[in-house]
Amino acid sequence: MCGIVGYIGPKAAQNILLEGLRKLEYRGYDSAGLAVHNGEKLDVEKKEGPLASLEEALGSHPLPGQLGIGHTRWATHGKPSDENSHPHVDAKQQFAVVHNGIIENYLELKEELAAKGYTFSSETDTEVIAHLLADLYDGDLVSTVRNAVKRMEGAYALGVIHVQEPDKMVAVRLASPLIVGVGEGENFIASDIPAILDHTRNVYVLEDGEMAVITRDGVELFTTDGEPVQREMLHVKWDAVTAEKGGYEHFMLKEIHEQPKAIRDTLAGRIKEGIVDLSQEISLTAEELNGIDRIHFVACGTAYHAGLIGKAVVERLARIPVEVDVASEYRYRNPIITPSTLVVVVSQSGETADTLAALREAQKAGAKVLGITNVVGSSVAREADEVLMTWAGPEIAVASTKAYTSQLIAIYLFGLYLARIRGTRSEAQLKEATEELLRLPEKVDNALSDADTIKQFAEQIKNHDNLFFIGRGLDHAVVMEGSLKLKEISYIHSEAYAAGELKHGTLALIEEGIPVIALATQQDIFDKMVSNIIEVKARGAHVLGLAQDGDTELTKSVDEVFTIPQTLPLFTPVVAVIPLQLLAYYTSVARGLNVDKPRNLAKSVTVE
Ligand code: F6R
Repeated sequence: MCGIVGYIGPKAAQNILLEGLRKLEYRGYDSAGLAVHNGEKLDVEKKEGPLASLEEALGSHPLPGQLGIGHTRWATHGKPSDENSHPHVDAKQQFAVVHNGIIENYLELKEELAAKGYTFSSETDTEVIAHLLADLYDGDLVSTVRNAVKRMEGAYALGVIHVQEPDKMVAVRLASPLIVGVGEGENFIASDIPAILDHTRNVYVLEDGEMAVITRDGVELFTTDGEPVQREMLHVKWDAVTAEKGGYEHFMLKEIHEQPKAIRDTLAGRIKEGIVDLSQEISLTAEELNGIDRIHFVACGTAYHAGLIGKAVVERLARIPVEVDVASEYRYRNPIITPSTLVVVVSQSGETADTLAALREAQKAGAKVLGITNVVGSSVAREADEVLMTWAGPEIAVASTKAYTSQLIAIYLFGLYLARIRGTRSEAQLKEATEELLRLPEKVDNALSDADTIKQFAEQIKNHDNLFFIGRGLDHAVVMEGSLKLKEISYIHSEAYAAGELKHGTLALIEEGIPVIALATQQDIFDKMVSNIIEVKARGAHVLGLAQDGDTELTKSVDEVFTIPQTLPLFTPVVAVIPLQLLAYYTSVARGLNVDKPRNLAKSVTVE
């Protein structure tokens, strides 16, 4: 996730672009940059760090001109640095490009362009676009962009300007958001509406495969094949704060709804011919992967809960024994770590102090460390021996949602890759699982579509002091995440219990009217789970049952039911966690609490 803006009109572009970027900083803050046409050439300024660093640099060297593009970066390909910042230009600085998305075939394009003599000064996929445009240039910006996008695979929202066309800006979109703001004698492009709201409320929302040709006085929309597009103009009524949250009331709800995209992005480029292939990212050889005799997942909080799923995934798919540790405990229990141990640290921020300490401890003991993280250039990304990125984009709400489901996806990819290398699953089984992985975004979307049942249940539990979450097997790990989510943003005490364990003590706490959320997605233990539900019902609990579509049996034993789309047992956590995230969210809202910034908590915990 990055933010792009563009301006053409009678005013100084620099300040309009900077204001726009400020509104888009939530989309990334690793670096920022501008390219402005000064009437003769394209001037570029870009700086690693927050927008303030760019503003400081521009203080002494402003960029004059009335046409320009800008970018705020959330690093994907290449660490945060001045070189990797956008805009990117070709060698002769004829084209300037800003990009949000990932060009999946950039290595192939880079090799092709390098063979023709193009040299690259950054590690980014975007610089490849600038050189590709230069290579394809036919004297016309629009047709050159059209030809370039035909060569590009992946996701992009692009803003492009050319030195010889100072009266024009081209924008094009595939699978990354892009809008065109229509003003009077001036026009804009942006990744998101807040960037342009101070100037206009009239926008066109581009769809996939569409491009816009923007001048001071007009906007024309086409498909990338050159067919004209007629689009109704949208008049935005949101205030600026709502707009920043994409129309959602809170960042958490926005991020919950971003999960289908985060999953899609995390899967992108990692499946070749129907099978998971991580060989481009993980440098461990087949011999080394075959030599692993135990795996430790180490993480904190929500990421630890992802690790619990990781244990089941790796043990079932690749038959390697796995232990899962809370990072703050790991070092102090003197874990058995040998050179054939693989330690997998999972961290959204990549900066959690306890997780980093565990990573260093594992390396000191001779183990290789695989980091699963959401932040390129973070300490985990830099220090781990191997890195598997999650591509969830910046997560602003303190309560983690899209990072968790993306971590699960990275773990599935890793498990399937291990199973492939170690030969513990047949090709047919791997293909079947991979096909199902690709269906998950749609299934998550489906689970998100029926929030009303959950909202009503949130109303029922909002005044309770205590409640229980129960589940068995993988469902137990998922309810631990559901319980944490509820605790941290609604401040209601809850416990997540392995359902079969209740009768060994905790059942004494079940009394008339206590809410119990029972997750029953695992078919192999479904009947046992139903028996556990009947045990709590018999003591007066008010039960919300969560099951897969078609599990009519559960309806007979619970007070309310929420069903989720069916998937493979191993993948159900991705879908099953959705109603639990929504429950935490709506309960917090019903209690009038600060959803995005709960008390006592910080997004990144850099102290031990
Ligand atoms: C809960 C939550 C935390 C984090 C934990 C680890 O919603 O966000 O439990 O998961 O602090 O943070 P990272 O993943 O950044 O290491």
